[in-house]
Amino acid sequence: MCGIVGYIGDGNVYDILIKGLHRLEYRGYDSAGIALVNPEGKLNVYKAMGKVSNLESFCRSKDLDAKAGIAHTRWATHGEPSDSNAHPHFSEDGNLALVHNGTIENYKVLKDALSQHGCHFHSETDTEVLVQLIEYIRVTNNCTLVDAVREALKQVVGAYAIAVIEKNNPDRIIAARKSSPLVIGIGENETFLASDATPFVEYTKDCVYLKDEELAVIERGEPLKILNLENQESQIDVTTLELSISQLEKGGYPHFMLKEIFEQPNTLRDCIRGRVVDGGKRFVLNGVLDNIEKFINAKRIVIVACGTSWHAGLLGKYLLQDMCRIPVEVEYASEFRYSNPVLDDRDIVIAISQSGETADTLAAIQIARRQGAFVYGISNVVGSSIPRETNSGTYIHVGPEIGVASTKAFTGQVMVLTMLAASIAQAKKTVPEEQLEELGRHILQIPETVKEVLKLNDTIERLSLIYTYARNFLYLGRGYSYPVALEGALKLKEISYIHAEGYPAAEMKHGPIALIDEEMPSVIIAPNDHLYEKIVSNVQQVKARGGSIIAIVTEGDKLIRNIADHVLEVPKMPECLTPIITSIPLQLLSYYIAINKGKDVDMPRNLAKSVTVE
Ligand code: G6P
Repeated sequence: MCGIVGYIGDGNVYDILIKGLHRLEYRGYDSAGIALVNPEGKLNVYKAMGKVSNLESFCRSKDLDAKAGIAHTRWATHGEPSDSNAHPHFSEDGNLALVHNGTIENYKVLKDALSQHGCHFHSETDTEVLVQLIEYIRVTNNCTLVDAVREALKQVVGAYAIAVIEKNNPDRIIAARKSSPLVIGIGENETFLASDATPFVEYTKDCVYLKDEELAVIERGEPLKILNLENQESQIDVTTLELSISQLEKGGYPHFMLKEIFEQPNTLRDCIRGRVVDGGKRFVLNGVLDNIEKFINAKRIVIVACGTSWHAGLLGKYLLQDMCRIPVEVEYASEFRYSNPVLDDRDIVIAISQSGETADTLAAIQIARRQGAFVYGISNVVGSSIPRETNSGTYIHVGPEIGVASTKAFTGQVMVLTMLAASIAQAKKTVPEEQLEELGRHILQIPETVKEVLKLNDTIERLSLIYTYARNFLYLGRGYSYPVALEGALKLKEISYIHAEGYPAAEMKHGPIALIDEEMPSVIIAPNDHLYEKIVSNVQQVKARGGSIIAIVTEGDKLIRNIADHVLEVPKMPECLTPIITSIPLQLLSYYIAINKGKDVDMPRNLAKSVTVE
């Protein structure tokens, strides 16, 4: 949800900022803008609607000489995508420029107060209010810019990651954060700031994650200074990044999404490494084992997440109930936080988030912790906010996911949930050892199994041509395949803009069956599990209404092959592992349908990968 980047140093400021914006474009691409302070103390601000490439074209004939700068890629919240609403925003006297990720909730009150003092506003954004407020305080109190930023932030209710530069000072950037991410990269004679580390990983591996309500003073030639809003200096903890630049490139694939789908054998291997040991006999998730009594004695588990992570969470419910015999509820974080939840210290809340920054999931965690629940996080981005706010947790270790539609993160989340359930079951002895060992052996084989599944690529590419112009799709599954149906439908919606509904196959007869005709294809996830016979009937019900069927089945399936129009076969697996392999053909199907329709699969309209607003 908006990406910000800043730079002071001897490098080419414009080039570094633009490249940084491209890396952050997954956070939003409604508009982009850049503010450059040139050596003579002139502040040049350029903005363009749409993607960063539009900004680059716009800047081609402009003065790009600079000693420092800040830049922004926007996902619109307050005010439509337009030039005037694009960041950076100015103070009215043109002295300050500011970029912001987050939402200033009390902006209306602040705006009215500033208007009464004669301020005029040129955009509909909450951000412009903040920059005007800072400058108003600086001028009326005759104080330093650092003090003015501190004072302004004390008046602000909401979330922010900001960077501010001043016309006459090309040697300083001030940055601050609360509830929106901000990380500072420390290089030799140069300093970076960004919403995540991807814009500067090729220049430095040393970084500092700013904490809530901290303010960074970045000055040329001076060591980094971090203050809290009360002006007390904080200690600086430098972290070394594990990220590598090759992880941020397409590596020969036409899109990040396809690269990430094909990376899954490796990402799952990384996810499993060191966690299933002794040939599959033991499950070692340290975050669980260190707190095993809590898990054994848990009276209930509540899973909170959003989007694709919520679908992984729903699979977590099936896994944990099946294997650990603990009651599980799965909640959308955005609903949970306002549902007046009832929790206590025998409840465990599992928060799942690829980015580790989703605002609703973070808020849900805070509520759960306040009520005494033990909070366990499952995230991908190391050092992000969610792992820092939880009591314990596990990283999925699938590497940066850049395609907006989540693929490898989903399978990584499901894999972690499977290992989590298995390690609790092992401690609680709710599943016989031989069964767990068999599961462990299959988990160790999953990377190879996924490689087999990916061989369906060409078949799916051909199949996609038949269905490219369908206007609606139904995705059906039962048991472990129901969350897969939901995720398959979401993938199609997100990137091809075709309406698709995921449904429990047996519920179809209570409504959606009325939609079925020859123009409504159904994708039915029907592996050979304990509900197989049941779903065969559901497949027949669809066929009887003239609907065409694409079925995902287990190798050697005979029954459904005779009914469905197309079948895609996946290898036989223990039931609880089938979602990992049945979801992959669905990822490929949505990818190719979107490509056939000429859609931008990596940056679908209106979406952003990291949702740091409510
Ligand atoms: C956005 C993304 C989805 C993602 C969801 C939750 O909507 O586009 O792909 O599933 O946020 O994100 P999280 O980072 O919390 O998993």
